[in-house]
Amino acid sequence: MKIAVLPGDGIGTEIVAEAVKVLHALDLDFEMETALVGGAAYEAFGHPLPEATLKLAQEADAVLFGAVGDWKFDQLERHLRPEQAILGLRKSLGLFANFRPAICYEQLVGASSLKPELVAGLDILIIRELTGDIYFGQPRGRRTAVDGHFPGAEEAFDTMRYSRPEIERIAHVAFQAARQRSKKVTSVDKANVLETFQFWKDVVTEVHQQYPDVELEHMYVDNAAMQLVKAPKKFDVVVTGNMFGDILSDEASMLTGSIGMLPSASLNAKNQGLYEPSHGSAPDIAGQGVANPLATILSAAMMLRFSLQQPEAADRIESAVQSVLAQGLRTTDIFAPGTTKVGTMEMGDAVVAALGAQQAIT
Ligand code: IPM
Ligand code: MN
Repeated sequence: MKIAVLPGDGIGTEIVAEAVKVLHALDLDFEMETALVGGAAYEAFGHPLPEATLKLAQEADAVLFGAVGDWKFDQLERHLRPEQAILGLRKSLGLFANFRPAICYEQLVGASSLKPELVAGLDILIIRELTGDIYFGQPRGRRTAVDGHFPGAEEAFDTMRYSRPEIERIAHVAFQAARQRSKKVTSVDKANVLETFQFWKDVVTEVHQQYPDVELEHMYVDNAAMQLVKAPKKFDVVVTGNMFGDILSDEASMLTGSIGMLPSASLNAKNQGLYEPSHGSAPDIAGQGVANPLATILSAAMMLRFSLQQPEAADRIESAVQSVLAQGLRTTDIFAPGTTKVGTMEMGDAVVAALGAQQAIT
């Protein structure tokens, strides 16, 4: 088993180092190889996703990814910006299914911006389609408008599009995931306005016929954004397109108290996957040793479960994380009076110690 480790930029290097430490502590037999990606790769090789990094990712069973991006790259041409690395990896590995769980840990109920009773016990799974939609649709670009409100003016355009197979495969993923949970799927669309999402709704409804045991509801994206803060526990599995999923998953993450706690998995048809925290590179706190490594450590757990067939090891990491939270250890993003503030490395060390303690019991 081979893991490609791509720490990236900003806090990426700090948090990935802790996840790697935790993986080593499991004493499993896998190989890890590290490569540059994002702004770090641009600075070293002139490209955010160098050939060698892409090859390493393609040949690995799984990719452990940190985060990419920094304001200093904002002026670069789009194809050289750090974000293109993650988009390029998604596209070239065919990682169409993005799992973003939003779980509110019991100990962090108070850290949510919503009232405790709204979020206690929250456990939502957002399944975001990741290789289609307006993110990748062609044509796109800039031109002189020939029609619209200002003919002759400079304009920019992107294309929102989904093909039937793209919708079918993500719908299957969602219904199958729902079978492992409470058998309810909410498909989020904008069918009242967009043809792309009327088609989405029609295809999801068709695929649903093969899953009569799962309940399907359709919801417009604006309503979904509202319901997520009004009564988030009404949701279980949410399936949606690339752009709506980007927005709703950030919103859902905040319900849990901290985006610093949320892992994610992006899978292709071969169960090869890229695992990364749901948060970004946070250049404002990079290099200070204060970032929360738990989202990345939990992403490593998802990697063990989905791509490396090591479910027990995944369970062990997840319970070690629960245990450090129960000990009251908190990075600044989840700190509250009465808890103990720790840095990135101390948090990683605490997870390793908690894993060791488990072995002592078993
Ligand atoms: C995410 C990020 C990315 C996205 C960016 C960095 C390209 O926001 O993973 O949610 O928009 O998909
Ligand atoms: Mn995003």
